[in-house]
Amino acid sequence: MKKLVVGISGASGIPLAVRLLKELKKQPDVETHLVMTRGAEMTLHQETPYSLKEICDMADVVYDNHNLGASIASGTFQNDGMIVIPCSMKTIAGIAHGYSDNLLLRACDVMIKEKRKLILVARESPLSTIHLDNLSYLSKLSGVVIMPPMLTYYQLPQSIDDLEIHIVGKILSQFGIELEDFKRWK
Ligand SMILES: Cc1cc2nc3c(=O)[nH]c(=O)nc-3n(C[C@H](O)[C@H](O)[C@H](O)COP(=O)(O)O)c2cc1C
Repeated sequence: MKKLVVGISGASGIPLAVRLLKELKKQPDVETHLVMTRGAEMTLHQETPYSLKEICDMADVVYDNHNLGASIASGTFQNDGMIVIPCSMKTIAGIAHGYSDNLLLRACDVMIKEKRKLILVARESPLSTIHLDNLSYLSKLSGVVIMPPMLTYYQLPQSIDDLEIHIVGKILSQFGIELEDFKRWK
């Protein structure tokens, strides 16, 4: 059984997190551990028709972002890595500077100190020098992968759904999870 920690922060792109959780739900051998920031809760209502409860129901285990005593705050909790999707520039700054004042940030801190895989689906536009410096620093750390949710056209998308599945498919490929609808370049 793979255990993946999923963090959702308050950047635009909550539908990508929804899609990721839905795809992981279809994987019988993956257990998802979800933590959401307050910013994510606000953006969720702005960008999707889902309630907080509906999102939480898509995960196997859900944590309160204020609970710094939760299992994912410790390196002794065994898991296969973490995805922060979408990842705001505030959360990027917190991760880059080890400023772990909420559970999502602490879980990222743990991934880095344990040298586990940490995928950051960082989203902002335009990116400032501060954002780029933080992203550049993080990209040099073992296990950290910066994967902004960039649009791709080579798979000839017909819908937003097609664009989203390509982004989510690429992210999950990092963990060896292959989605049925993910079209690789041949
Ligand atoms: C509708 C909406 C969209 C936002 N989009 C972004 C974004 O794409 N990138 C970003 O860095 N911040 C974005 N923000 C701002 C963050 O939500 C804000 O900086 C927040 O403090 C992030 O905190 P968190 O990382 O703890 O969720 C957005 C806010 C709102 C309300």
